[in-house]
Amino acid sequence: MTTIAGIAGSLRRGSYNRALLRAAAELMPEGAALRVLSIDDVPLYDADVEAKGIPAAVAALKESLAAAAGLVLVTPEYNSGIPGVLKNAIDWMSRPGSDIARVFGGKSVALVGATPGGGGTILAQSAWLPVLRTLRMELWTAQGPFYVSGVGKVFDDNGLADQELRERLRKYMAGFVEHVREHAG
Ligand code: FNR
Repeated sequence: MTTIAGIAGSLRRGSYNRALLRAAAELMPEGAALRVLSIDDVPLYDADVEAKGIPAAVAALKESLAAAAGLVLVTPEYNSGIPGVLKNAIDWMSRPGSDIARVFGGKSVALVGATPGGGGTILAQSAWLPVLRTLRMELWTAQGPFYVSGVGKVFDDNGLADQELRERLRKYMAGFVEHVREHAG
């Protein structure tokens, strides 16, 4: 079984990005599973807190990511950039810096996101690039960027409803899993 970790960067219950991650989990290929990791309990980063020990919620996230073969990072876009809650969670997970290689290093990451507007999350996705590089992650780009704009038209109360988009996401996840398996040798 190939296990991929998934993190969505919104705390909102009705979050489109959370719904996109749930859809990705439903559409995983055979022999692979997407484990949804929650950032709901991650506190704001504080070096004084870190000095007393890594919070349990952060330690659990780190171990789940370290055990996973790849990461699907689902980013909302705030003010043309990365939402603070998601950056905060990743920043915490990068502590101490001596764990970066074990938790993030060489891990393949698929970057996706959803917005109500027309721009998808393309600016937020670009803003992630220097962060991913610093964490020594490998961005998977073989199928180009995956972003969802105009969420009102493609999601309903049950999640991602648009059949064409579901098929695209199914193909995207299959491609990412295939890549991760090849990468793992
Ligand atoms: C936004 N939103 C937004 N959307 C976008 O496409 N580009 C942007 O720059 C911004 N900026 C922005 C700033 C702030 C502070 C907020 C709160 C929102 C709208 C955003 O995409 C929308 O609220 C999404 O629904 C957030 O994602 P979730 O919570 O649905 O996953």
